[in-house]
Amino acid sequence: MHELVLKGKFFVEKHVINGYIGVDNGKITKFSKKPLNGEEIIETKAHEVIMPGMIDVHVHLRDFNQKHKETIKSGTMAALHGGITTVFDMPNTDPPVVTKEIFEKRTELFKRKSYTDYALSFLIAGNCSEVKNVKVDFYKIFMGVSTGGIYSENFEEDYKCADRKVSVHAEDHELIQKFLERPNIVEVKAIEKALNASKRLRKPLHICHVSTKEGLKRILEESLPWISFEVTPHHLFLTKRDFKKNPLLKVYPPLRSKEDVIYLWQNFEKIPIVASDHAPHTLDEKEEGAAGLPGLETELALLLTAYNKGMISLWNIVEKTSLDPAKIFGIKNKGFEVGKDADLIVVNLKEEWKVEPEEFYTKAKWSPFEGWKLKGKVKMTLLRGKVVMEDDEIVGKPRGERIVIES
Ligand code: NCD
Ligand code: ZN
Ligand code: ZN
Ligand code: ZN
Repeated sequence: MHELVLKGKFFVEKHVINGYIGVDNGKITKFSKKPLNGEEIIETKAHEVIMPGMIDVHVHLRDFNQKHKETIKSGTMAALHGGITTVFDMPNTDPPVVTKEIFEKRTELFKRKSYTDYALSFLIAGNCSEVKNVKVDFYKIFMGVSTGGIYSENFEEDYKCADRKVSVHAEDHELIQKFLERPNIVEVKAIEKALNASKRLRKPLHICHVSTKEGLKRILEESLPWISFEVTPHHLFLTKRDFKKNPLLKVYPPLRSKEDVIYLWQNFEKIPIVASDHAPHTLDEKEEGAAGLPGLETELALLLTAYNKGMISLWNIVEKTSLDPAKIFGIKNKGFEVGKDADLIVVNLKEEWKVEPEEFYTKAKWSPFEGWKLKGKVKMTLLRGKVVMEDDEIVGKPRGERIVIES
């Protein structure tokens, strides 16, 4: 007898089967084609599929002195609503996470407020002496200025002192000063610099929000096993023509040309991770020129819409939003396998809905995709075997835990 059994369609490797998932003590304990007994049973409906909860490796949850933009509470509720059960918190907060003291504050806050499981980060920018004092899940380095204004004067030195994976914002500082609109070359130059440093140091690096054709091409050509990267939904679904019509779509790196976007889609299979780069600002701040877009609650539905159009496979979505992030960042307790946390989502593949940001949990209260009709919707989210979101409602209290990284 299992504590909980889910009945429905799910992936076994690349194939969808109809079967049963047993859950005990918050862990997946059995996959079976034959019926399993459960004290509690969740039966999925027509057009529904059970998928692993998404792991979003790039999320700005703000809080601290920017609670008006987002809090750990509102942001992680938004994540559950979008089918995300683990978030990687970004350290360009106010104050930024650059000392042991602030890191500890952030840790305490997450313990009390997070509705999802989480990974905690530390921002490196000339503060290598602080690095040995903290035990973090990943590091963040900005090669050029983005929101928060902190960047590395010496990328390679900062990268060198990290003892875990570094996520890097690759836009070149000098070129940003020269070309305020941040054309492709700003990203490409920084990616080349990062690749060169990485070839010398041979240590884990994750390149954030790759948006340009040439940048992606360079990364794929090098194909270094210790380098990973992500692409965001906004760089896949929007172009700079959209930005010309709607200045609220300002984001770093900026939205690109159709040619870039087509190249990203042509190489979609080779992209290891899709991450939201959820970067909430209020509408007032956006009107004053703040860069960043909210994305937690539209990420999966956009991808499912692309699946429904025949552009990508469902398996691709599962890999890039959950299985690959767990592997690449070495998360011990995550993965769609027996013995791992029962982080599961139930998705209706055919349900159509309209993006209405007033119904979202993020404090941003606007969306780059406002008014879009999407096909595919998250109906239920389970975190470690407990239902935490059902039919757009968050269920229960915050019970997020810090993930465990393999050492
Ligand atoms: C992000 C933010 O607002 O924190 N903004 C953005 O335009 N992407 C920072 C970042 O990811 O560079
Ligand atoms: Zn039907
Ligand atoms: Zn960035
Ligand atoms: Zn970001």
